[in-house]
Amino acid sequence: MDISFAIVTCSDTRGLAEDEAGAALTSLIEGAGWSVCSRVVVPDDTREISLAIRAATDERGVDIVLTCGGTGLSPRDVTPEATAAVCERDVPGIAEAIRAYSLAKTRRAMLSRARCMQRAVRGEDGLPMGKLALVINFPGSTKAARECWDAIADQLEHAMQMSR
Ligand code: MTE
Repeated sequence: MDISFAIVTCSDTRGLAEDEAGAALTSLIEGAGWSVCSRVVVPDDTREISLAIRAATDERGVDIVLTCGGTGLSPRDVTPEATAAVCERDVPGIAEAIRAYSLAKTRRAMLSRARCMQRAVRGEDGLPMGKLALVINFPGSTKAARECWDAIADQLEHAMQMSR
């Protein structure tokens, strides 16, 4: 089963060329036999992040948006809020699984506010099309992004079967 992904890296300091975590996630996704349809870097700005998630789901039609970074405790960390602004349904189990797995790697995992939510994909008329996209927040370091991928990758196919 093909699963299409978008990677949205949220960072005030990184450009696409420096986005090591996004590149690492791309390799992991393609290594699993799935595809990355779009990869962007946006500043730590609620509106910019929300717009990137909306474009990935509604215009690109991806199944899963992985955001990377901006989940911590600094005032500029707004990725969870930007996600909630364009998603309707919480999927707490995925965020809980990431945190549980991550806490075994580093106690600092408790400092990520990452969420996982579903967005009803809209058509050109702005109305829901009956398909749900999954938006998953990962922390921004390459090590953390890899670990979070390892925490959930085996459940993504079943998650997508239920979302279509
Ligand atoms: N999760 C995993 N699996 N591995 C990590 O190294 N780092 C933590 C945490 N989650 C980490 C992790 C740290 S140090 C921070 S500050 C938070 O994620 C938030 O990171 P972010 O602001 O880059 O999103």
